[in-house]
Amino acid sequence: MICPPGDPRIVTLAERPDLEDALDEHNGSAWPTFMLQDPVADELWHHLHAEFAGWQLMLLDADDEILAAANCAPLAWDGTDDGLPDGWDDQFRRTVDQHAAGIPPDTLGALQIVVAPERRGDRLAGRMVTEMRGRARAAGLRALIACVRPTHKHRYPLAPIDRYARWTRPDGEPFDPWIRLHARLGARIVRGAARSMTIAGSVAEWEGWTGMAFPDSGGYVVPLATNPITIDREADRGVYLDANVWMVHDLR
Ligand SMILES: CC(C)(COP(=O)(O)OP(=O)(O)OC[C@H]1O[C@@H](n2cnc3c(N)ncnc32)[C@H](O)[C@@H]1OP(=O)(O)O)[C@@H](O)C(=O)NCCC(=O)NCCS
Repeated sequence: MICPPGDPRIVTLAERPDLEDALDEHNGSAWPTFMLQDPVADELWHHLHAEFAGWQLMLLDADDEILAAANCAPLAWDGTDDGLPDGWDDQFRRTVDQHAAGIPPDTLGALQIVVAPERRGDRLAGRMVTEMRGRARAAGLRALIACVRPTHKHRYPLAPIDRYARWTRPDGEPFDPWIRLHARLGARIVRGAARSMTIAGSVAEWEGWTGMAFPDSGGYVVPLATNPITIDREADRGVYLDANVWMVHDLR
């Protein structure tokens, strides 16, 4: 398809390495501070800019502003539900380890999609998922797998993720908007991933990240967290497990 000049267009970081800082800024601004403390993401993110730059997708306007971005990277998966990684952290580590070991990929792993706040509600998220599906298929990959972070789970932090994943609206569609979008585009729900990401810190770090005080040991509901965080004052430690949902887009 030929796009008229000025129409939003998708480029990769391999094509536009000059946008690396803009991409990081676009992505980082979407998350609460505590979500930016995942040690696996801190350790491995630079690989997306290096070995996997061709899989980092940006939707640009005529002025090269990023309207939406999708991070993904290919990995090997045996095609079974049991063979899916434990969660987001495990998927990312497998991707990098397999690449280093020279294991050929057969699957695309989604890592995140972020739409610019002023463009949310414009169906750009669906365009990015469709783009990942199309590029994966064009590369001969069998599936797009996504350890989806449900966008409304933070409103229900006490609901077990396996139950939340199956909630539906009266019309039968998935209850959560982000699960719903993936389902509409062809994905199936596999299961909850209760420990998709593990984020730990001292009590002072958690107080800084959240702007809350944690006077006692126990569980705390924190804004924008999918689960309560667990504070242990004696050990001076707080732990948060980000709850996600495995979804699979079969492309064959
Ligand atoms: C989550 C996020 C990417 C969603 O983007 P958005 O612009 O708000 O959502 P969209 O406009 O794409 O979707 C709005 C609606 O259109 C639907 N939709 C969008 N594209 C569609 C498509 N191609 N086909 C069918 N339905 C589509 C969505 O399902 C949703 O439906 P609803 O009206 O039933 O709720 C965005 O809110 C964001 O960047 N959030 C911060 C980061 C984040 O949480 N990312 C997701 C986890 S990695």
